[in-house]
Amino acid sequence: MFFEGAGSGDPELFALLSAYPDNEVSFYSNMQKDRKREEMTLKRYNIAIVGATGMVGRKFLQVLQERKLPAENYYLFASARSAGKKCPFMGREFTVEELTETCFDGKDIDIALFSAGAEVSRKFAPIAAEKGIVVIDNSSAWRMDPGVPLVVPEVNPQDILRHHGILANPNCSTIQAVVPLKPLHDRYRIKRIVYSTYQAVSGAGMQGYSDLERGTRGEAPKKFPHPIFGNCLPHIDDFLENGYTKEEMKMVNETRKILGDPSLAITATAVRVPVFYSHSESINVEFERKFELDDLKQALSHAEGIVVVDDPTKCRYPMPINAADRDEVFVGRIRRDESVDSGVNLWVVADNIRKGAATNTVQIAQRLMDYWEKGKLKQENRWQTD
Ligand code: A2P
Repeated sequence: MFFEGAGSGDPELFALLSAYPDNEVSFYSNMQKDRKREEMTLKRYNIAIVGATGMVGRKFLQVLQERKLPAENYYLFASARSAGKKCPFMGREFTVEELTETCFDGKDIDIALFSAGAEVSRKFAPIAAEKGIVVIDNSSAWRMDPGVPLVVPEVNPQDILRHHGILANPNCSTIQAVVPLKPLHDRYRIKRIVYSTYQAVSGAGMQGYSDLERGTRGEAPKKFPHPIFGNCLPHIDDFLENGYTKEEMKMVNETRKILGDPSLAITATAVRVPVFYSHSESINVEFERKFELDDLKQALSHAEGIVVVDDPTKCRYPMPINAADRDEVFVGRIRRDESVDSGVNLWVVADNIRKGAATNTVQIAQRLMDYWEKGKLKQENRWQTD
């Protein structure tokens, strides 16, 4: 899939998207599930994509195409720079429209997937929601708003039921962490979490990606404050007064909100590494209750959305190159933390643009439609400003 017309970087991004390895197994199983869903679904929905020309926006289109949502029509929005661009999608040609205060009028849009940055979301998500559109926002703008559910469908899908027009998609590094933490929290009660992340440059968008490419040619970085090629930067997003970065505090606060436990003790160190796609995380967890390591591994391998890859004798463990373009979260190096009464160490890897962004957002949309279809949620829910 690619965009025609003006705009720098398009062919480059197309090449990047095409470079992902195919995953036929999950593709076909998704197709079967989608077909079943299609057969069962009566209504078809109108879906808008805001930021459709961006890195995550384009991945939205790819994931929507793969998952075949029960959609009647799509509307693609971006800035004035992209207005008029043609985009082949779903076997049709779509024209990108400029995002404006009136652009949603007269279109009968049901759901809008936003990934155009926090500033755009802060302004335009309420405008869309007031028109009865349910916004699923990938930016940080609304994540910690108490009235906005922060959702990972494998973890807290029920939170979707209390939305008032805006739903938030968590930060990429939080999403892949809470997927394995949820089944462990349910069984053993998590007391404390220590996150150490190894995050891909694509998390910093095309500019981050280009800095690593430039570095391989011996050129200076433009996005990062230091070279990323042959280097690690313990610096993701801005530094705060407490000495942590915003990225680290997102992991702390979002984990507490998603697991519904504000008392959880959590600390984090987030590091950018010279990897193009997929974030890796070392997660150290301390529990209230005792556990058997085999039971814990079983719990993880049976949990939705997780693939356990853990056979160190054969050098098998999760790695970014294997997680790229996959929707699952890969967990390995599962071993007891022998320094505490009840603790475990995990190594967790996932594609930051798919499960960490586009796939999770589309999964929220699928759950929402499911709730509407089953009558668990009325579509007339409106944005409330209180
Ligand atoms: P555009 O391509 O027209 O600039 P990324 O995170 O990869 O940079 O993508 C950001 C996305 O958000 C792009 O689709 C970009 O559109 C869109 N965007 C950025 N600023 C605005 C804005 N003020 N209004 C609408 N869309 C915007």
